[in-house]
Amino acid sequence: MRRLRRTKALRELVRETDLSPRHLVQPMFVIAGEGVREEVPSMPGIDRFSISELVAEATELQAAGIGATILFGIPASKDEAGSGAYDPEGVVQMAVRALKEAHPELVVITDVCLCEYTSHGHCGVVRDGQVDNDLTVELLAKTAISHADAGTDVVAPSDMMDGRVGAIRSQLDDEGHPDVPIIAYSAKYASAFYGPFREAAESTPEFGDRRGYQMDPANALEGVREAKLDLAEGADVVMVKPATPYLDVIRRVKAETAAPVAAYHVSGEYSMLKAAALNGWIDERSAVLETLTAIRRAGADLVFTYYAKEAAAWL
Ligand code: PBG
Repeated sequence: MRRLRRTKALRELVRETDLSPRHLVQPMFVIAGEGVREEVPSMPGIDRFSISELVAEATELQAAGIGATILFGIPASKDEAGSGAYDPEGVVQMAVRALKEAHPELVVITDVCLCEYTSHGHCGVVRDGQVDNDLTVELLAKTAISHADAGTDVVAPSDMMDGRVGAIRSQLDDEGHPDVPIIAYSAKYASAFYGPFREAAESTPEFGDRRGYQMDPANALEGVREAKLDLAEGADVVMVKPATPYLDVIRRVKAETAAPVAAYHVSGEYSMLKAAALNGWIDERSAVLETLTAIRRAGADLVFTYYAKEAAAWL
């Protein structure tokens, strides 16, 4: 076996998996206000941007070779119904308009969820201590339409309500957006690795947790069922999230659906690598490229990662 490992050129000839900037999606946090650019304390290297700073950052992303971003909004105020999520003048809607105007060729994906906009931090409307599925689905569809009206290229529902992909698809079709694809967060697990994101988005639930809607980490077959249901409802891409603890799920979803599969290398996965690197405990570049290659090898076509811009420079 060592004959083909002897030189770099030989290794490259037989390499099975490739990793390039075109596979990577950079998540960005957009915050209300002006002239704001502040680092997320638990995610060194990742900032929250107000709109003009976001537009400037997008220029750098494109220069690095990254062609896509997913936006998360942090509104000025939150309420019980998460109304900032579907406000036509909301922070994400305004950011989409500004980004598409300045960078028409950048693929703008918007995360569709209520958790960044609800005062209680849950991903939907709370009735009798529970997140009400169908009421939430209506508001999610309204949110997706408002993103599409603002000009987003792709919507990505991350809430894990049942039936939301079908509802979003039919409303997009009815309201003049038949060409907007859906990247569904299909197998999204109730994970401890979202901690830094919740600090960034100020979206930690005030009571309880998300186990009543996000998946049990012990289940893989259920992840495949979720992906198949979302495809049947009209999803164009199915996502597995987080990535590295769920490489087996990525592999199974790819094998059993043959659909485009996305994997989300989440905030906690980023922060662990970053913290070890900042302490000098691992070689950051090698560890990150090895991790992203492993996610691709498992079967992910697209990788959402906070390391996108840095990795693109290394590639
Ligand atoms: C919103 C959403 C979350 C993430 C993506 N969309 C947070 C959550 O479900 O708590 C997590 C992303 C990350 O940790 O990087 N529902």
